[in-house]
Amino acid sequence: MELRNERWDEKTFKETMKEVLAMYPTGKAVTLDRILEYQKGLPPRRRASNLYDEARKTGRIMVHPRAGVATIEGMIDLLTYLQDEGGADILPMTPDTYTRRLQFDNARKGLEESIRLGRSMLNGFPVVEHGVPGCRRLVEAVKRPVSVRCTTGTARLAITIALASGVTEMASAAVHCAFTLDTVPFEAAIKDWQYTERLVGWLEERGLPITMEFNCVSGASAVNPPALAVVVNILDVLLAAEQGVKHFCVTHYLNNTVIQDLAGIRMMGELTRRYLDEFGYRDAVVYQSCNHWHGAYPGEVGEAFAVIDLSSVIASYGKVNKIMVRSVEEGVGVPTRESNASSLRATRHMVDMLANQEFPHSPKVEEEAKLIEAEVKQIMDRVLDLGNGDIAIGTVKAVKSGILDVPFTPNPENVGKVLMVKDLNGFVRYLDPGNLPLSKEIVQFHEEKVKERIAAEKWDDEYEMLAYDIRGGRRL
Ligand code: 5AD
Repeated sequence: MELRNERWDEKTFKETMKEVLAMYPTGKAVTLDRILEYQKGLPPRRRASNLYDEARKTGRIMVHPRAGVATIEGMIDLLTYLQDEGGADILPMTPDTYTRRLQFDNARKGLEESIRLGRSMLNGFPVVEHGVPGCRRLVEAVKRPVSVRCTTGTARLAITIALASGVTEMASAAVHCAFTLDTVPFEAAIKDWQYTERLVGWLEERGLPITMEFNCVSGASAVNPPALAVVVNILDVLLAAEQGVKHFCVTHYLNNTVIQDLAGIRMMGELTRRYLDEFGYRDAVVYQSCNHWHGAYPGEVGEAFAVIDLSSVIASYGKVNKIMVRSVEEGVGVPTRESNASSLRATRHMVDMLANQEFPHSPKVEEEAKLIEAEVKQIMDRVLDLGNGDIAIGTVKAVKSGILDVPFTPNPENVGKVLMVKDLNGFVRYLDPGNLPLSKEIVQFHEEKVKERIAAEKWDDEYEMLAYDIRGGRRL
């Protein structure tokens, strides 16, 4: 099939679904009618979009953890704890790495080993191995909506099974995954996600909203370039909208730089809305979330709390609808349920304390927002040109030519020339803009900001400065 940004016809969709379900025996029991029937019967409190609508109406920010262990009993225990003790508004279904990599036999062995040893030997929940009966047991055992977080270029089977089991949100999409987490060619990732997005679109057409959360370029998030993050999300959002997705949650990954993050949050929302409208998807609904700092975490718990707390403060001022919470054991490994719940409570407490407080109007935020807007337009214009108006084709060509280039990605298709560092105020700037199609003025502006810092802090090696930033400001 040729790559195009065009809604799939019914025949292509159904034939692809057949192929997807044949990937593992647990897929066999799934049919479109069964997904529809189960999704229709869900109580409203299990539908994520209802919670987002409520959050938007009241201004109350939701908190959302990540979590996954091997067994259903273990997972029910963990999610119940995060719900009751942590106050999680939406609950995660984080699949293990084997499931994400389509190594279902290894996931099965890991599950068997976990049962034998009485502790989780997988770093997540093997969605495909448990299949619909197991996943439904989990969804029905908790009170909150469940969100599947299969962040990979080939997530079709796990997400189909999750949707058949009453999951009403999914994280991630093609461009984000290909850039951040995978080595899969961009063309393959886009086609793969078009199936999943068409499945969501098919449910949307039947009055069943599924929220799709978009995660921009999280791999680079210690020094996350705000304009590139917005571009990646806009591309993923437009690709999904074409397949019929209607409920979008766009995420800004916080750099813990107050002014620039506030500008980034604002532009993420405003520009996503603008492009959706311009492309004719006016009935699309846009929610917003923030991700706690995603760089290296201190191993010491007190320091780790400082990192997530600052992120929570910025997200509160940014008035997002949800915060993706990092545990304070991020620097140590997969968190205990107690530490995960404690991180949720700290986040809840911080956003509640700030609920009635406004960040004062700031010309600096305006300035940064204008810069992000200009950069996004310059890059998006070229992506659209390259694809002759087709963003799927434009995206692939843009990546291969470095018109769109994201630092620190594992994907060999990415040109990998762009590098970022922070300036004296902690704002993320281009150390090297690579082939990004930015105006001379913008490139010069970044260059001056970087020079200013090098001179003031007396760096004689730019890469050491970069490594220092990635480590969250810890001298090597
Ligand atoms: N339990 C808790 N957190 C997890 N993450 C990945 N797998 C798990 C799990 N099983 C978290 C990582 C990182 C984010 C992308 O997801 O620690 O913060």
